[in-house]
Amino acid sequence: MKKEVMIVTGAGQIGMALARRTGFGKKIILGDKSMKNAENIAEIMNNAGYDVIPFEMDLSSREDILAIIRKAQECGEIKYLINAAGVSPSQAPIEAILKVDLYGTAVLLEEVGKVIAEGGVGVTISSQSGWRMPQLTPEEDRQLAMTPTEELLSLPLLQPENIRDTLHAYQLAKRCNEKRVMYECIRWGERGARLNDIAPGIIVTPLAVDEFNGPRGGFYKNMFAKCPAGRPGTADEMANIAELLMSDAGAFITGSTFLADGGATASYYYGPLQP
Ligand SMILES: NC(=O)c1ccc[n+]([C@@H]2O[C@H](COP(=O)([O-])OP(=O)(O)OC[C@H]3O[C@@H](n4cnc5c(N)ncnc54)[C@H](O)[C@@H]3O)[C@@H](O)[C@H]2O)c1
Repeated sequence: MKKEVMIVTGAGQIGMALARRTGFGKKIILGDKSMKNAENIAEIMNNAGYDVIPFEMDLSSREDILAIIRKAQECGEIKYLINAAGVSPSQAPIEAILKVDLYGTAVLLEEVGKVIAEGGVGVTISSQSGWRMPQLTPEEDRQLAMTPTEELLSLPLLQPENIRDTLHAYQLAKRCNEKRVMYECIRWGERGARLNDIAPGIIVTPLAVDEFNGPRGGFYKNMFAKCPAGRPGTADEMANIAELLMSDAGAFITGSTFLADGGATASYYYGPLQP
């Protein structure tokens, strides 16, 4: 029997947790900029009974995105997308954060949306970080949502003089992810498919550990100490949400961002984390 086909980008902890929860019995094409990461996760999953093909691809390149789509299509029509590739504020300069997290995600949602199977479903990962940034104007939100992908990085609000630091770039990128999901879910819907977003709080992964040990380490540790949950989250808890979003139980959910941050955003606005 032909297997359903799933693209997963980002062979990290969150990508693997979501793929393990939702990808059993499917053909999974696992893309990552680091072939070593893709191969490592593919090996772990294949040794656990999954069917994963590692694939080298850079999310910031449309050519590479089209290449992973072609690779997946060799196996059949694409039914599922999980986008968990990304770089964090301590890992990359402003330009790379915008190119990978903002532009790359927008292109991936656009291109997969052109070929997604009927009944298909996609999940992308933004971040609570986007919720903490002050509101943008309605026009700026609209620009992030609807500007053609090749013009996105030319938007005035994304120019270097308007971006304070890598955290600000990351917040803008993650806000853009949410807006893009709202915009693209319309096109996905025309094909009978759904698209949603999960905005995690601090999840213990190598990316988060880089943050704990980076220049904002104290800030992060304080954040989970003073949120209602009183702890960081786990990738498996993000998989709980993906399981809902990607199953028939989530059939009425599309264009949504699910904030799952242990209440850190609530505490930031109205509790002990208020600045
Ligand atoms: N861990 C957290 O606390 C946290 C919180 C909020 C949001 N997120 C988001 O979750 C996503 C996954 O993060 P994670 O914690 O699993 O991190 P991770 O470091 O475990 O995995 C990220 C993966 O993305 C890959 N990657 C980086 N740049 C890429 C590119 N240009 N093209 C293709 N692959 C690339 C890396 O090689 C890595 O394998 C990211 O978008 C991140 O911003 C993480």
